[in-house]
Amino acid sequence: MAHHLSSTISKVLDILNDGAVHAGSDIAETLAISRTAVWKIIQRLKKYNVDIHSQHQGYQLASPLILFDKKKIESLLERPKIIVEIFENIPSTNDYLKDKAPLKNIHFCLAEHQSKGRGRLGRTWASPFGRNIYCSFRFVFNKDIGEMGGLSLVVGILIAKALEDLNPTLKPRLKWPNDIYVNNQKMGGILIDLMAEANGNCTAIIGIGLNVNMKDEDSKDINQPWTSLEHALNEKLDRNSVVAQLMRSILSGIEVFHEKGIEPFLSKWQRYDLLQNQEASLTMGKQVISGIARGINSHGYLLLELPSGNIESFSYGDTTLLKT
Ligand code: BTN
Repeated sequence: MAHHLSSTISKVLDILNDGAVHAGSDIAETLAISRTAVWKIIQRLKKYNVDIHSQHQGYQLASPLILFDKKKIESLLERPKIIVEIFENIPSTNDYLKDKAPLKNIHFCLAEHQSKGRGRLGRTWASPFGRNIYCSFRFVFNKDIGEMGGLSLVVGILIAKALEDLNPTLKPRLKWPNDIYVNNQKMGGILIDLMAEANGNCTAIIGIGLNVNMKDEDSKDINQPWTSLEHALNEKLDRNSVVAQLMRSILSGIEVFHEKGIEPFLSKWQRYDLLQNQEASLTMGKQVISGIARGINSHGYLLLELPSGNIESFSYGDTTLLKT
């Protein structure tokens, strides 16, 4: 079940964010709500694994948690026509937009927690509450589905650019097709669901997961080296500013892709390519091919130099860097 983010849960956290013990009755009085309402919110937060100690004197939050703020994101986006929807909990932001009747404006959906977050190739995407960014938006392209191949690479490039703008010391890299890496560890990923329309248009649901303030204990189900903005920069970040930065970069770049396709982005790929001239393997279902990665072609396909010396192009699959 999808639940929109209520302002009350944010207000309760605002009170607890000082790390002190707060009596339920005090919180209730400050927010003009019942003690039962406070208790229910605390139970919800505990269900999301938020570390709150309940004791005789009241409730105490182990570490501060600042939730998304719709007004702040809208003002940072500076695009009044975008519809921003924020969920406290949802199965998957991509699935939500896929199932929803299209709106005229760009529809941008963001969640604090996903119960069925999806990764590429049928994997799950770890989505702990209040720590990271899980967002999706819908964009309608006046293009045939066959022309959409480069979109996922372009979105990766736009995210890498946004991360660099956020902090020039970050050195984001992209592992083909669109994994976001920092310091050789995965920081984020992109999942694009494409739907061909009868009128020849193509609707894309573009989903982005980015680790921002993820804690080690939230990552038990992740079976590959990962990092977060907090790990890489050694500071906790305001996810509202990060998400606005990402969206600004993507929204302006995607218009360029809409008009001109992948071509204007090809040289930018080189800047971020994690695999360039490295030994890599490509897994396509049960088939695994190894070689030396030689960038991408004009369609965004991966170029692999095989042991025979031939360079072949591949349009899909999952890559692994073999030596670092
Ligand atoms: C990957 O496997 O690297 C892609 C991960 C994409 C995760 C995001 S989180 C927001 C959106 N909703 C989902 O269920 N998945 C994407």
